Amino acid sequence: MDLNEVLTTSWQMLAKGALQKKHPLHTATIGTMANNIPQLRTVVLRKTAIANRQLFFYTDIRSAKIQALKAHPTLSWLFYHPTKNIQIRAIGNTTIHHQNELTLTQWKTLPTYGRKTYGTLQAPSTPLTQAADDLPPLWQSPTITLADTEYAYANFAVVSCEIYYLEWLHLQRSGHQRAQFNYVQGWEGSWVVP
Ligand SMILES: Cc1cc2nc3c(=O)[nH]c(=O)nc-3n(C[C@H](O)[C@H](O)[C@H](O)COP(=O)(O)O)c2cc1C
Repeated sequence: MDLNEVLTTSWQMLAKGALQKKHPLHTATIGTMANNIPQLRTVVLRKTAIANRQLFFYTDIRSAKIQALKAHPTLSWLFYHPTKNIQIRAIGNTTIHHQNELTLTQWKTLPTYGRKTYGTLQAPSTPLTQAADDLPPLWQSPTITLADTEYAYANFAVVSCEIYYLEWLHLQRSGHQRAQFNYVQGWEGSWVVP
């Protein structure tokens, strides 16, 4: 593959990852900085907008990563496809969406069970005296409806990330390959030592 094909393939994989629940790129590790400490966690890749170079994930507006992103809006993404032996690293600038048109559109697509994550009574990371999901009792009800879950919209956030750096690493017996791409006015790529 030439550099253009590598870039195109990378974005196609990221697009597939967002769409297909069982795709290895459906989850990513994202990295933020907080008090000079790199913090990593898993998120679901919810959407890839190739034309805008954007990756999206959902989260709780009260979570620590939101505080970190407010202080340092740069986000790192790490993806790994184990059968293809491909690692993709990406870095971009984030925008936090909360109670706007985008969050409303995305919220409406979430089924009842998909809203549970945003429904805890207290903010994520709040200390508990014993293990508990911190959900209000309505989630125990077998007759819970979509309308019952509307309160959790207040906690629902979408983070979009405009990617300006993408790196591809392909490990293979015939020879490892690694390419780096920076977006300046367009994508500029180069091969580097793997
Ligand atoms: C498979 C998996 C998928 C996850 N997806 C998300 C997600 O899409 N959004 C999210 O905020 N947290 C997600 N989490 C939980 C985060 O990894 C993390 O524990 C949580 O968001 C708190 O992180 P924070 O304290 O750094 O904000 C997921 C965890 C796992 C194991």
